[in-house]
Amino acid sequence: MHVVVVGSFNLDHVWQADTLPAPGATLAGRYHTGPGGKGFNQAIAACRAGAETAFFCALGDDAGARIASHLAKIDGLRLIAHLSANTPTGSAGIFVDRQGRNSIVIGAGANAELTPAHLAAQDTLFRLAKVVLVQLETRIDTVHKALAMARDAGARTVLNPAPANAESSAELLALADVITPNETEFAALIARHTALQIPAEAVASASDAVLHSHCRTLHPGGSVVITLGSAGCFVSHGENRHGDSHSHYRLPACPAKVVDTTGAGDAFNGAFCAAWAQHPCRALAEHLTFASRYAARACEREGAALAMPQLAPA
Ligand code: RIB
Repeated sequence: MHVVVVGSFNLDHVWQADTLPAPGATLAGRYHTGPGGKGFNQAIAACRAGAETAFFCALGDDAGARIASHLAKIDGLRLIAHLSANTPTGSAGIFVDRQGRNSIVIGAGANAELTPAHLAAQDTLFRLAKVVLVQLETRIDTVHKALAMARDAGARTVLNPAPANAESSAELLALADVITPNETEFAALIARHTALQIPAEAVASASDAVLHSHCRTLHPGGSVVITLGSAGCFVSHGENRHGDSHSHYRLPACPAKVVDTTGAGDAFNGAFCAAWAQHPCRALAEHLTFASRYAARACEREGAALAMPQLAPA
């Protein structure tokens, strides 16, 4: 197994309109529904980027669960789901504007019922993994357990600390070899975990020296990859540079004709882990360059999981 993803599955309900709705506004838009959830999107991306992938999640006993199983089967994703009899599959209400920007409301549903005890039986799966990838749409104790099991098993660990308002602890961050916040998530982590402050809008334009220093304070034992949308990403390493020559650097974004940015970060994370797992001896910068290319293609299509392209690293 190349990649194990532990995380959320949501049934996404998406409305596309000219603008995002202001409080009290009623807009006319176009509706579609489809599979999503940060965990599932990342797992499908890893799969479609050529990695043998397993996804561990919790689902209700309903149509959402059947959609997850159906797509996993088509994509060759190994789906291991705890089935909740009384709680519906997770859901998300998503508004997308003309520029492809989104606002999202989550109903956790069964995602909130995935416990550390459910993971405990998956020891063999973790021992087979090259890279274990988690996000924060799942209970923090379960995310913690997944990273701890991955560390014990000798797998590389990646934490995508999304969404920005999710709880996290210093112990949790310390279990990740690489954390991958976007600028909003990075600003939230800095405010929560350090005595420093940086507004989300100032992250992309901050100097490399300032960003590197903030990253080192936030995550002294590991690497930080800050995704910056059309400004690319910033990379900061600690002692382990994972094959890179520089302690910190920027990579440009790939040009894209943006239709929908929902799941862009998920595309990046899934593709990055897939590339790292398949080619563990290559420099991290190479995997991140591939991930940017992969995410750009995902933004050119509507939807979340279904927008992930079939594109493997060369
Ligand atoms: O990252 C995008 C995802 O966030 C959507 O698919 C939605 O389900 C929410 O989890």
